Amino acid sequence: MDDLSPRPGDLDPIETASRDEIAALQFHRMKRSLRHAYANSPFYKQRFDEHGVTPDDLMTLADLAKFPFTTKADLRDTYPFGMFAVPQRDLVRVHGSSGTTGKPTVVGYTKHDIDVWADVMARSIRASGGRPGDMLHNAYGYGLFTGGLGAHYGAERLGCTVVPISGGMTERQVTLIDDFKPRIIMVTPSYMLSVLDEYNRRGLDPRASSLKVGIFGAEPWTNAMRREIEEAFDMHAVDIYGLSEIMGPGVANECVETKDGLHIWEDHFYPEIIDPETGAVLPDGELGELVFTTLTKEGLPMVRYRTRDLTRLLPGTARSMRRMEKITGRSDDMIILRGVNVFPTQIEEQILKCAGLAPHFQIELLNTGRMDSMCVHVEATMAAAESAAREASAKELAHHIKSVVGVSTKITVHDPGGAARSEGKAKRVVDNRTKL
Ligand code: DLL
Repeated sequence: MDDLSPRPGDLDPIETASRDEIAALQFHRMKRSLRHAYANSPFYKQRFDEHGVTPDDLMTLADLAKFPFTTKADLRDTYPFGMFAVPQRDLVRVHGSSGTTGKPTVVGYTKHDIDVWADVMARSIRASGGRPGDMLHNAYGYGLFTGGLGAHYGAERLGCTVVPISGGMTERQVTLIDDFKPRIIMVTPSYMLSVLDEYNRRGLDPRASSLKVGIFGAEPWTNAMRREIEEAFDMHAVDIYGLSEIMGPGVANECVETKDGLHIWEDHFYPEIIDPETGAVLPDGELGELVFTTLTKEGLPMVRYRTRDLTRLLPGTARSMRRMEKITGRSDDMIILRGVNVFPTQIEEQILKCAGLAPHFQIELLNTGRMDSMCVHVEATMAAAESAAREASAKELAHHIKSVVGVSTKITVHDPGGAARSEGKAKRVVDNRTKL
């Protein structure tokens, strides 16, 4: 794989600024943002007043801990526009997340917000190894989901040629990659595996494709999956993180030259890690729930938004800004099975150790009698599809999961192509427990 380290002059000055410079900018912006929220969003005015704080109480960055959290429930309770800090006529776009229950949560952007988003997204693509002039195949979904349009504006801002294909129609995805020869692909990692299947189905060699960099995110994925994709396509696979409530894709991104966690674009998004039980702020390095405060957002400023994503903050490496470790999972996705906490990413890691299994999987939760149980649905590779090989793979996987994760699971190995596929975010857990 090519060395894609940035060339001198490629980076924004803030990406290599000193920590003191970054902190000074953050403090100035945080103060301004809290004032904006307090003055212009009745929601925040009421929240801060109830909590007995005003923006004047922010004397240092650490004083942010005095301010109340916001949650997804706040967005739902004020649906659709109740938390906004500008009149609707000043918004140029809204996005939403479908959510698992009922109404979506709605987020909105001023022209300036869209501009900042394009900047951080362009910075993310460049950190991944993208350059002006690259052709970029954008298979994130376009629509209310932030993935498609977020990536699109950033790619244009960097000076790429965007192929706005969106998600789905996998055959056409491969045809266009083959014909247009993009250097970059942006897509969820689970859908990249479906694209890989289509290469194999057509007898095309994925390693001979034009793709040099994949920018994968919107769902948790492991370093084991990174190796799998990099090996299959002979490309760099880089992690991108974001969430609609804070902006969309481009809140944090890995640097291709280090691939050691995601640099948070801290000049616009201020991170904290908290203990999810007590809400106390934890020191850098400790695992907890990621919380973000937006520093420059006008339409929908977010103060201490609880993401439910679990990670830890680490010092900067390829850039001065701090990194977040690859996300283990969301607290909502954590399965508690007979007292043991299990994340789908832990299962993914074990599947990728088994040569006879393809990396497509879904976890089904069941209750057999009064006990909860877990069945992992996975599929055999073409080479290991006959029944003796499948049985051996099932045994091998059950053994790995028992010895590394610590739970007993039932494994069902389906035919090649038999496990559920995604065209966007994979649904890793299906809860078929009957409520007793
Ligand atoms: O998924 C934004 C996005 C689009 C990010 C394209 C990256 C690429 P939401 O639909 O609001 O926004 O979902 C946000 O997805 O809180 C995480 O739980 C999860 N997530 C996003 N990126 C990653 C990642 C977009 N790289 C939620 N690793 C977040 C793990 C991720 N989880």
